[in-house]
Amino acid sequence: MSNVHVSTHPLVRHKVCLLRNVETEPRTFRELIREIAMLLAYEATADLKTRPTPVQTPLAGAEGESLEEIIGLVPVLRAGLGMVEGIWEMMPSAEVWHIGLFRDERTLKPVEYYNKLPVGPTVHVCLILDPMLATGGSAIATVDVLKRWGAQRIKFVGIIASPEGVKALTEAHPDIDLHVATIDSHLNEQGYIVPGLGDAGDRQFGTG
Ligand code: URA
Repeated sequence: MSNVHVSTHPLVRHKVCLLRNVETEPRTFRELIREIAMLLAYEATADLKTRPTPVQTPLAGAEGESLEEIIGLVPVLRAGLGMVEGIWEMMPSAEVWHIGLFRDERTLKPVEYYNKLPVGPTVHVCLILDPMLATGGSAIATVDVLKRWGAQRIKFVGIIASPEGVKALTEAHPDIDLHVATIDSHLNEQGYIVPGLGDAGDRQFGTG
C-alpha cells in the first residue's frame, strides 16, 4: 500500500499515546489533536511544488523558494474541526472548505447536508481532515464530493485508522494518499476503532 503513510515520528507516537489515555481531559485532548494534526500535515505536504523566489537578505541576494500550490483544508464535521486551526497557522494561505455529511440510519449511506463549494476548484491540493478513519464511509463520500468538484490531488490526513477503513478508502479511491499516525487492530460492532481513543468528537468538545 504505497500511498498509505503511517508516521514513524517519535513526537507523533508520544502524543498519540497521551491522546489515547482515558484520563486525558478535553483541553489537553484538543491541544494534542492540534499538535498531531500539524505534524501529520507537515509530512503530508512534503511533495508540494515550490517556485524559485529571489530574496534580499540584510547581507546579500539569495535564491529562495515559495509555495506554488494552494491548499484546501476540508475537515470532516465534527471531529475534523479540531485539526484545522494548527494546520492553518502553519499554512495561512490555505482555504478551508466545509462539507457536511451524515449517515442515513435507514440506507446507511452518507447524505450531504452542507456544501458551499464554488462551481470550479480553487485549490491545487485538498487535505481531508478526520482524526478517526473508522468505516471509511465519510472519507469516501468526501472524496466523491471533491472529485465531482474537480479536485486534482486529494490527501486524507487522519490520526487513528482501522484496517477496515484503510481498505475501504484505498479500494474506493486508489489514487489518493493517506497520512495517519497509526493503524489500530479492528473496528468493533459499534463502529469504534479498537483500541482507538473512544469518540474523538465527544472527547474534544466535552460532550461524552
Ligand atoms: N469515530 C470516533 O470518534 N471514534 C471511533 O473509534 C470511530 C469513529
